[in-house]
Amino acid sequence: MSYNTEKAQGGLLGWVDARFPLTKMWREHLSEYYAPKNFNWWYYFGSLALMVLVIQIISGIWLTFNFKPTGAEAFTSVEFIMRDVEWGWLIRYIHSTGASMFFLVVYLHMFRGMMYGSYQKPRELIWIFGCLLLLVLMAEAFMGYVLPWGQMSYWGAQVIISLFGAIPFIGEPLVVWIMGDFLISEATLGRFFALHVVALPLVLIALVVAHILALHEVGSNNPDGIEIKKHKDENGKPLDGIPFHPYYTVKDLFGVGVFLIVFSVVVFFIPEVGGYFIKYDNFIPADPLTTPSHIPPVWYFAPHYAILMSVPDKLLGVVAMGAAIAVLFLLPWIDRGRVRSIRYRGLGFKIALFAFAAAFIILGYVGTQPVTPMTTIIGRICALVYFGYFVFLWVYTAFDLEKTKPVPERVTS
Ligand code: HEM
Repeated sequence: MSYNTEKAQGGLLGWVDARFPLTKMWREHLSEYYAPKNFNWWYYFGSLALMVLVIQIISGIWLTFNFKPTGAEAFTSVEFIMRDVEWGWLIRYIHSTGASMFFLVVYLHMFRGMMYGSYQKPRELIWIFGCLLLLVLMAEAFMGYVLPWGQMSYWGAQVIISLFGAIPFIGEPLVVWIMGDFLISEATLGRFFALHVVALPLVLIALVVAHILALHEVGSNNPDGIEIKKHKDENGKPLDGIPFHPYYTVKDLFGVGVFLIVFSVVVFFIPEVGGYFIKYDNFIPADPLTTPSHIPPVWYFAPHYAILMSVPDKLLGVVAMGAAIAVLFLLPWIDRGRVRSIRYRGLGFKIALFAFAAAFIILGYVGTQPVTPMTTIIGRICALVYFGYFVFLWVYTAFDLEKTKPVPERVTS
């Protein structure tokens, strides 16, 4: 709204609108953002990811009030928060549960995108910003995990940082550069604290803004994978679209309610989730002289860790682990399918996507278990299925082998 229309609007809102595009933004992104009317429950996870980000930032700020990022005090300051700070245990468990729930929600959010072909043209950039979000989220979670300075913090960091040492020529100096010392020490803790608390959250927020701006530029996909912009009424509104606000704000609030019930059950009754959300060894202070017998990753890194472990060579393992993430960036160009949604795709796609998801879950389990000949074999098979999905998808679609079903003109709900 321009300065000239200020009088028409009047009041404080009119005053603000003449100087800042508040109403314009509200309209563009909420009350006049037309989203397909057939969203199902898979579409809850985007708004839930946004909410968990806010939960993490707020609970993180409160933790920072009492956390001390020094080798001598980090562990005891967390114990202080848990035992002596009023409601400190709640804030800490909200933050530790939030980390796992963030990954759960984001993995489901990505799977939705894979099912409905939401990465295909013209949504490639939404997907790429998403992949970057995943990468930064991983760095954020890794550094956060080091901060309580327990045994798993210390030795987990040791395992992961030493992986960089496998890179030829620059590996060793790179490891020293990351640690800021010749071993994991207070210097490492201090920089991880700064990155975890300030730098990476800023990057995450910027990426989320880019992710959503890109989404609103092209419009949302939907479970039918149909472009709703193709059929508009005389006012130019998509016939199969409904305003995001109030329809989807209310729907998403329902999702938030269900999510918060599950979240609260974890926080109040099972905050460690059997060692999956918080490892029991992390209640022991970091001891650089005592290596734990088994240093498993947290569950959300376990699939990638299992891929690393499935390769006998350290450098090639690191390459495979990196490739497992890198290949996601390429998905919009690997999949040349003629239809988007799994509803109308060929049987081959359905079987392959199911196998991919199963392999990812099994890798996650294998990655948390002590290495045995059996876990190694299972890990290798699942790693092949993981990468096989992308190879299959390219061959299947590039050579037009897919038998698709006819896609309806309008959404089907
Ligand atoms: C901090 C993490 C993330 C946040 C806060 C976030 C948030 C959102 C939100 C609010 C939406 C719109 C609602 C919806 O469609 O569900 C969305 C859509 C989307 N996101 Fe994310 N996202 C995140 C991570 C990711 C990741 C890791 C990927 C994939 C690699 C991804 C891919 C997509 C795609 C493709 C869409 C469009 C879906 C469609 O139109 O069908 N996002 N995201």
